[in-house]
Amino acid sequence: MRARIRPGGRVEGETGVPGDKSIAHRWLILAATAEGRSELRGLTRSLDVRSTARCLAQLLPGVRPQLEAWASRPAESRDGHGFTWDSDVSRSTDPPLVVEGEGREALVAARAAIDCGNSGTTMRLLAGVLAAAPFPARLTGDVSLLARPMERVAMPLREMGATVRTNGGLAPIEIEGGALRGIVHELAVASAQVKGAVLLAGLAATGETSVVEPAPTRDHTERALEALGAPVRMEDRRVTVAAFQQRGFEGAVPGDVSAASFLVAAAALSGTEVLIHGVGLNPTRTRFLDVMERMGVRTERTVLGTQLGEPVGDLQVRPGDGIEGTRVETAELPLVIDEVPVLAALAAHAKGHSFFAGASELRTKESDRLGGLAAGIRALGGLAEVEGDDLLVSGGGLTGGAVDALGDHRMAMALAVAALTASGPSEIEGMESAEVSFPGFVATLARLGARIEG
Ligand code: S3P
Repeated sequence: MRARIRPGGRVEGETGVPGDKSIAHRWLILAATAEGRSELRGLTRSLDVRSTARCLAQLLPGVRPQLEAWASRPAESRDGHGFTWDSDVSRSTDPPLVVEGEGREALVAARAAIDCGNSGTTMRLLAGVLAAAPFPARLTGDVSLLARPMERVAMPLREMGATVRTNGGLAPIEIEGGALRGIVHELAVASAQVKGAVLLAGLAATGETSVVEPAPTRDHTERALEALGAPVRMEDRRVTVAAFQQRGFEGAVPGDVSAASFLVAAAALSGTEVLIHGVGLNPTRTRFLDVMERMGVRTERTVLGTQLGEPVGDLQVRPGDGIEGTRVETAELPLVIDEVPVLAALAAHAKGHSFFAGASELRTKESDRLGGLAAGIRALGGLAEVEGDDLLVSGGGLTGGAVDALGDHRMAMALAVAALTASGPSEIEGMESAEVSFPGFVATLARLGARIEG
């Protein structure tokens, strides 16, 4: 699907955003493998989260009907209206997903390959769960996922005692689980997915399992485990868990702050005010707001409550005095990994140059975002290039143009935001991929005043 964008719109008003994708994957897995009743609100029916629900349905006959029914209902908010508006996400009107879990012992072999769709988080986290399940499983996915590196998760799971084969380092993953022993694993790359997979495996291992991170990454797995009463210790860059069977739980997933990042940038570019309600404000996810602050974007965060250890509140964007270029160094990158596309979109309109250093991990995402961003910004009439593993974006604004997002949701949304304040019209091919994480993205932007259709 092609989105058409014309200049001159303004993005202002109040909105919610879909529930957080990273949190939803983890809570779904923890609820489906818990013992007892869980009730989850605010789960987004984005394609990635449905993938996790469908995969779990293949593996857990006891909760299959509920998961399948949930995953097959249409996505919320196609008109951009139905998100959680109330800052208290527990008051979300979307009916909750209710499952009666029977514990991890209830996992059975799937009759076919387990299709993770476009979702790397689904594949890597489920590999951690299946590492302890005594049967063979094959985790597969779409063309983009089949090109993504999986040895980073296979290696520690093998060390714990599972048999894991990758396709020359890439997906699909074949895994035969069994009795696991705890390990101390030093992550070679800062990855919350790999950390999460090893911790989920550690819940079914003998002894303690520790993950040591080279740089901090999102901590949703550890927060949820702590809130559920698991034996989890967080010390500096090291997280340790021991065997634990979680009980059922209730929670309302906060709005996705990474989805909100596109609206923040759109408001900053139009110099307008936007208030985003009920959004997750976990500091391991909000670093992009600090980077935007350096660029001159004014925002205020107000934490109003917590859900299963996750801070939730309101995010207000205020008009600033223009956008400046910035430098994002390698050390900061893991905490803004999903927001580099939208930061680059802002950078294309900034005064001065911006620089994203040592960003090779961007090549391993849903598409090669390093090359894609430079090409995308150039296609919209800007100046950007890749030098080694660094991305350089020259500010000064865009003229508009035609660009293909190559099936990558964050690229499609970032390029759409970049095009909003270009001097001429633009067309973004592949806009439908926004459904992977932000159902109703185009409708939400249009409702807030952007001139976008498609
Ligand atoms: C995620 C971790 C990050 C991120 C992805 C979601 C998660 O990936 O890019 O969108 O939910 O754990 P990596 O762990 O590969 O860095």
